[in-house]
Parts: sequence; structure tokens; C-alpha cells
Amino acid sequence: ADPDPLQDFCVADLSASTSVNGFLCKSASKVSSDNFFFDGLSKEGNTSNIFGSTVTAANVLSFPGLNTLGSSINRVDFAIGGVNPPHSHPRSTETDLVISGQVLVGFVTTGNVYFSKVLTAGQIFVIPRGLVHFQKNVGPGKALIFTTFNSQLPGAAVVPLNLFASTPSIPNDVLTKTFQVGDDVVNSIKSKFGS
Ligand code: GLV
Ligand code: MN
Repeated sequence: ADPDPLQDFCVADLSASTSVNGFLCKSASKVSSDNFFFDGLSKEGNTSNIFGSTVTAANVLSFPGLNTLGSSINRVDFAIGGVNPPHSHPRSTETDLVISGQVLVGFVTTGNVYFSKVLTAGQIFVIPRGLVHFQKNVGPGKALIFTTFNSQLPGAAVVPLNLFASTPSIPNDVLTKTFQVGDDVVNSIKSKFGS
């Protein structure tokens, strides 16, 4: 979903003080093979958090060689029972590939139709751009998936954090009216996310 490049590559200079739609290019004479290499997805992520999952991202911010290339990839590790909570990517379609374990992947359309599948190693599921989706480890052990994107920086709007952990907070009366619950429920949810 990113624009087409106007040159072979444009390794991002993340330290430049200005940028346009993306990042400025590092001078080509300073580009080496290492700029097209990233080792950050080789290690298991730490899943000791309330969701029991962790996303390790190879996007333009962690891997500047992706700048202008319209591509990125995440590694997502799951503890037993772990969930990657409902979220959406405003700039990208996502393809999920299971490496190990059994993972329930689901998304919901703008018409509130739910599509889902339990996947095992080697199987893939596609999440259309912008739609709310999640994954849950439904197997007996840990699980590992890789997720690929047609954007250098898909962005992730994580529904529970958007609604209950924003800075500043969404006013409680908006959330109580929206979800038809009392302040106690909203405060309890907010407290789970440390806000
Ligand atoms: C999974 O949904 C991811 O965004 O990496
Ligand atoms: Mn996603």
C-alpha cells in the first residue's frame, strides 16, 4: 500500500532532522550490504506481559533498509494461551504464516462479519488492509508466527490500548455510554493497562 519507489533503494537516514512521506536516503556511497540485513527477528521475544504475546518488528524504524520498498515483517511469539489483542494496520494488508504451534487468526469486516481459522505450521491467513484482527495461541505449547506487510511501516492501532490507555485518557463518560457499563468497569479496564 506504499507509493512506488523512484530509485533502486533509499536506505533511511533516521537521524535526518527533516523527512517527507517516509525518510531521507542515506548517501549511496555510504550504503553497504549490512544495510539490507537485519538480525532482529532471530530471537524469541519476551512474552511475560498481560497478553502473553510479543511482537518484534522489522519495519523501517528498526531496519532502515526497508525505506521506500513497501515491505516489512514481524515476528510474534506466544506463551501458552497468549493473545495478540485486536488491532488494525491503517497502511497495510497482512499475511500470517505459522511457524510452530496452533494459532487462531481472526478478523472482522467493516460490516461486522467475522472470519477466522485455526492454523498450524506452514499455513497462512490474510488480513485485508485496515481491518481489526487478532491471533490467539490455542495449542498446548508456545507458538510462533511471522507476519508480512506491503508497507514499510504498517502502523498498529491496538483497540484496547487506543480506547483504555490513550494519553490523555478518553473521558470515562464516553466509554461508559459506549459500552453501556458503569465507571467501575471502565476504571477497572483502564487500571489493567496502567493508566
Ligand atoms: C500481527 O497481527 C502483527 O501485526 O504482527
Ligand atoms: Mn496485525
